Amino acid sequence: MTRTPVNVTVTGAAGQIGYALLFRIASGHLLGADVPVKLRLLEIPQGLKAAEGTAMELDDCAFPLLKGIDIFDDPNQAFEGANVALLVGARPRTKGMERGDLLSANGGIFKPQGKAINDHAADDIKVLVVGNPANTNALIAQAAAPDVPAERFTAMTRLDHNRAISQLAKKTGADVTDIKRLTIWGNHSATQYPDVFHAEIAGKNAAEVIGDQAWLADEFIPTVAKRGAAIIEARGASSAASAANAAIDHVHTWVNGTAEGDWTSMGIPSDGSYGVPAGLISSFPVTCKDGKYEIVQGLDVNEFSRARIDASVAELIEERDAVRELGLI
Ligand code: NAD
Ligand code: LMR
Repeated sequence: MTRTPVNVTVTGAAGQIGYALLFRIASGHLLGADVPVKLRLLEIPQGLKAAEGTAMELDDCAFPLLKGIDIFDDPNQAFEGANVALLVGARPRTKGMERGDLLSANGGIFKPQGKAINDHAADDIKVLVVGNPANTNALIAQAAAPDVPAERFTAMTRLDHNRAISQLAKKTGADVTDIKRLTIWGNHSATQYPDVFHAEIAGKNAAEVIGDQAWLADEFIPTVAKRGAAIIEARGASSAASAANAAIDHVHTWVNGTAEGDWTSMGIPSDGSYGVPAGLISSFPVTCKDGKYEIVQGLDVNEFSRARIDASVAELIEERDAVRELGLI
């Protein structure tokens, strides 16, 4: 049976992440090895030529699943019929720049894109915001799309999730595939909280396997939370291939489900669970099934975790209030 291609819109297609992302979407990693895709690339006018070059390279791969590439500088056209939207295009943080500074620089991008999604995307649209500050940019886009169910707007904390798994594997000598049920809470920023208290390493409680709360507090959490800044320091540019990989993981898991007994981390609109004010786009532990996600309920939040979740949520509240002041939501 021939399947109808899924329309995937990618913004910032000519950027670093775009370059690492598009080839993996086209080769079936985003949605599945049997799902044909059409790419709809959005760039600003200065980025169009480079996007055309990338499209030429995509053509040259002769990917069996790639059924078309269109390039636009108008969001209304780029989101026409979109089933999946990856909002990557934004101004990356550069050395010495605080994420808070990005709010006004990027806010203007996400409001018109949210409106274009509202007016033109397919009914089953799923949105992942990668461009920073991702959680708050997702909030801006969502607010501009009142006709789209709010839960379709998500922000990427999967890179943080993957980073945390990798750090735990290094510390304990476990294989990354042995690590389950890790959670990133809060904002995709240095205040995020990678939580191992419910995680398992080869079936055993991760906090017990590590047995060293000082390592958690002084090494693990800061390493994961500040990894983005460390990559910028080392590369002179923000993470790109690992960010693209995490975007692929996020959407693949959302569409195809989490494994039995495991969960993942996604920035999603809060329903008030775990004391996170309803409506904030915050990272939670979630399971996915049949293209929908659900927050994992009933986890015990100890004092150590509570203080850290609250600190990250407080930052999200500040960001929300700042964009409200700017009239962006
Ligand atoms: P980049 O500068 O290489 O590329 C950004 C691209 O977006 C550019 O080609 C630019 O022309 C384009 N662009 C800018 N405004 C646009 C608009 N209004 N519409 C369409 N395209 C537009 O940056 P990058 O390295 O690809 O990073 C992109 C974003 O992803 C940054 O905000 C970065 O901070 C963020 N990021 C997020 C995570 C995460 O885990 N959530 C990880 C890494 C990077
Ligand atoms: C990352 O986590 O690598 C990025 O979000 C860092 C950044 O600020 O671009």
